[in-house]
Amino acid sequence: MKATLEWQIACGADEAILDAPVDRTALPKAVERPRRAPAQNAEPEPDIDAVTIARTAASAAVDLETLRAAMEAYEHCDLKRGAKKLVFSDGNANARVMIVGEAPGRDEDIEGRPFVGRAGQLLDQMFSHVGLFRTESDSEKALYIANVLPWRPPQNRDPRPQEMKMMLPFLERHVELVDPDLIVAMGNHACMALLGQRGITRLRGNWKKALGKPTLPMFHPAYLLRTPEAKRETWADLLSLKDRLLK
Ligand code: URA
Repeated sequence: MKATLEWQIACGADEAILDAPVDRTALPKAVERPRRAPAQNAEPEPDIDAVTIARTAASAAVDLETLRAAMEAYEHCDLKRGAKKLVFSDGNANARVMIVGEAPGRDEDIEGRPFVGRAGQLLDQMFSHVGLFRTESDSEKALYIANVLPWRPPQNRDPRPQEMKMMLPFLERHVELVDPDLIVAMGNHACMALLGQRGITRLRGNWKKALGKPTLPMFHPAYLLRTPEAKRETWADLLSLKDRLLK
């Protein structure tokens, strides 16, 4: 039993979700979850060339302008064809804090800037409470914002692993060129891209290292709009970020 418990904790099951334990081995057959079909619908691995081409193009970029141009010229991600604009970044590139979000939504696709819709307004509000702003010229108080994917996925569907994989070299180079002191990984997809981990409820608030930078996973503001009670944890995370900046 102890070994099982330790194994579950190692897998990340560190929270009880029911008051009483349920012996799932004793459940009648009828309530067993159906078995998954074999992975016929599994995502295909991205074409290796798409990733290699992205890496070559990204590493040739010498500054943010050439990186943006390299992304504009990249033809291997189908999202580009459905999107109106490339959403590259916003804020102050000298900022100590770089926020990495997921992908543009409708408003961002129209404007060509990340986080300008309702989630973006909440993001601005949240960070303003700890004295950080995307419009700030002083790098100490400034924010820089980019996304894992620069093009809007159709109907705001989740990013696909292959899309994230092929766009990752651009994000890596983006972080390298901006060279922030700290990264905020906003939500599960940013955590997956930067840390190779998902499970934001467990990850949030725990400092990690991504691309050599201290990285703080936080709830995505779109999640906070749906789940306002999670703002309490986000406030703690913002204070942790502020604290780290003062160290
Ligand atoms: N959500 C994101 O993750 N990024 C945006 O730019 C907008 C909404």
